[in-house]
Amino acid sequence: VCKPRMAEYKYILYERIDHTAVVRLNRPEKLNAMNLDVIAELSSVMDTISSDDSIKAVIITGVGEKAFCAGADIEYMSKINPLEAEQYAIKGHASMSKIENLNKPVIAAVNGYALGGGCELALASDIRIASKNAMLGQPEVNLGICPGWGGTQRLARIVGVAKAKELIFTGKRVSAEEALSIGLVNKVVELPKLMEEALAMANEIAKNSALAVRVSKMLINRGIESDINTGLGLEVWGWSLCFSHIDRTERMTRFLQKK
Ligand code: HXC
Repeated sequence: VCKPRMAEYKYILYERIDHTAVVRLNRPEKLNAMNLDVIAELSSVMDTISSDDSIKAVIITGVGEKAFCAGADIEYMSKINPLEAEQYAIKGHASMSKIENLNKPVIAAVNGYALGGGCELALASDIRIASKNAMLGQPEVNLGICPGWGGTQRLARIVGVAKAKELIFTGKRVSAEEALSIGLVNKVVELPKLMEEALAMANEIAKNSALAVRVSKMLINRGIESDINTGLGLEVWGWSLCFSHIDRTERMTRFLQKK
């Protein structure tokens, strides 16, 4: 068996806490803005996590107390031509899609600004927990561009078309509390409690059958893109697949023996 080699990262801190992989964007002097190297490293760490069965959940957060991620790198974007911009969008999409389709649940612990590409990174995650100081938004139009790492698609699917249009057209930032009220984040906690809360949720998930969680994530993701009958058909397959795993036998037996 070929074990994945842990790469050395320049812009990412990678840590294992029990069954949870913690990925921290580590470019605090630029508020964790994502240049091409950050995107490539994020993509690479997702590959490592994907192939490790002992990891049951993932937390993505930012180093520092100010920013989760302030978006794509504006200095870089100020200099590029349309073809380079296309590559930047494509590479960002690939990285975000890896997170969205990862075979484990991903929690974004939003510890401050999550703007533009930073908000899109949170949107590609399955669950968002924000600290009280977090500010989220898609300010791209203010820079003469539209969201380019999935914001026009995922934001509308998460908060609805009308709110997504309001946020994207105005470019305004919303507080953690407002984000909670529109369903953009799942929960708001004090900043010092953020990692504790994210880890508690990760642990709660990790107690369950990894296959059942994985199948559920896949079914929700595929289903939301499909008509209801396609989604329901997939659910029958996913559900039946769970019966091929020892987890089901053991967990159901344990339940019955407790009685
Ligand atoms: C590059 C960035 C950056 C970014 C901040 N910095 N955001 N560098 N790209 N997105 C840098 C600043 O230049 C500065 O560097 C340092 O980080 C600290 O930022 P300040 O602006 O001095 O901090 P503050 O005054 O507290 O303001 C915080 C802020 C502001 C409100 C978050 O930084 C901001 O508005 N940032 C840009 C947010 C944004 O528009 N994001 C969307 C980008 S477009 P120095 O070296 O001067 O100290 C995008 C497109 C995605 O994401 C799709 C791509 C295909």
